[in-house]
Amino acid sequence: MSHLDIDNIPSTPGKYKPDKSFRFNSSTVFSLSKLTIYFPLFLCFLLILLLLSTPSSTPSPRRHLSSGTHRSPISLPHKLIHKSARPRLTTGHTVLVTGAAGFVGTHVSLALKRRGDGVLGLDNFNHYYDPALKRARQKLLEKAGVYIVDADINDKDLLQQLFDAVLFTHVMHLAAQAGVRYAMQNPGSYIHSNIAGFVNLLEVAKSTNPQPAIIWASSSSVYGLNSKVPFSEKDRTDQPASLYAATKKASEEIAHTYNHIYGLSITGLRFFTVYGPWGRPDMAYFFFTRDILKGKTIAIYESPDKGSVARDFTYIDDIVKGCLGALDTAKKSTGSGGKKKGPAQLRIFNLGNTSPVPVSKLVSLLEKNLKVKAKKKVMPLPRNGDVEFTHANISLAARELGYKPTTDLEAGLKKFVRWYLGFYLGSKKSS
Ligand SMILES: *[C@@H]1O[C@H](CO)[C@@H](O)[C@H](O)[C@H]1NC(C)=O
Repeated sequence: MSHLDIDNIPSTPGKYKPDKSFRFNSSTVFSLSKLTIYFPLFLCFLLILLLLSTPSSTPSPRRHLSSGTHRSPISLPHKLIHKSARPRLTTGHTVLVTGAAGFVGTHVSLALKRRGDGVLGLDNFNHYYDPALKRARQKLLEKAGVYIVDADINDKDLLQQLFDAVLFTHVMHLAAQAGVRYAMQNPGSYIHSNIAGFVNLLEVAKSTNPQPAIIWASSSSVYGLNSKVPFSEKDRTDQPASLYAATKKASEEIAHTYNHIYGLSITGLRFFTVYGPWGRPDMAYFFFTRDILKGKTIAIYESPDKGSVARDFTYIDDIVKGCLGALDTAKKSTGSGGKKKGPAQLRIFNLGNTSPVPVSKLVSLLEKNLKVKAKKKVMPLPRNGDVEFTHANISLAARELGYKPTTDLEAGLKKFVRWYLGFYLGSKKSS
């Protein structure tokens, strides 16, 4: 994980010159050989002092001009990029998908490419979870003709190069630091990806001419401690229960700002517990499957009042349809050259399944599909970010995007388990 303070390295004081008034007193016996030893040492000492005393906040025009160039410049494979980004249909879109090697990113990229849109992927392949799984997804995308640029959304120079090379009609921004509990270990990575990275992307997008429309992944976690169910888009979202949720909420406000000032068309999608083939190993359904197969005891959480923890599990194919629906109904951005020309579209949608399922039910469905009995241990839900209950009201997405989930947890888990066994245990061929 790269660090936030990478740009706070004090600028090199290039102006240092040895003081000319420095003179030796003739009475001092200084042999030339001693001087050649001590003078460089003295210089080093002074340089270190200067470096330490330079306040990192001092604005340095030189540093600003060269900001970003300290990262090794990547020479882009233009042929591959253009081939990947070119729509097959004349009516097709040209879409940049960030987080393309991620779970949702892979499925959305495949769906767009299949229907004739041009797709260029971007992913930094970080090690938050097994990068081998991300590389396997990348292979899948390569076969489908989707190329992934291996880079970070925080790399402004590279993003600029991509936007210079390809005229994107849409950006499907799915890159993020996910996970609720990991924020306690690595809070900086949430700020880096979800806030700094998002702003970086919006900065480049708003200056592009014409500006693309942005569709991005928010999260159901913004509802936080809200207890009014089902969760509707207008409900309060000012009580996040995790730093992850707080960064997604902040991003929703940042989206408002860029829409308001620059005329960017922006659509946020609040995903509710997405699961399915090629899913994320940090999610319960995934590691329960792994642990049940290993004979390891799994922890099932219950709420403080002994109630069951429930999730509105949403199957990946339904989420993909919601993403494509959002992209197809996105209006054009109105700004150009970084200037707003008129009001632009700003939307937020729940993408859930409207049927919360207790985690105990999830486990019994996994047992059935795996034909293995789970070793269970019931524990109180730790207060480290997870909420007890999620339940989406999807009537807005239904009306505006034609969103209509069709896969229930039973059918979806069956597909997941089939994929899992094929991918990790080589049984049958996974699709
Ligand atoms: C669901 O959301 C819509 C707005 O999109 C609202 O009119 C409706 O009352 C909500 N339903 C419930 C049960 O909260």
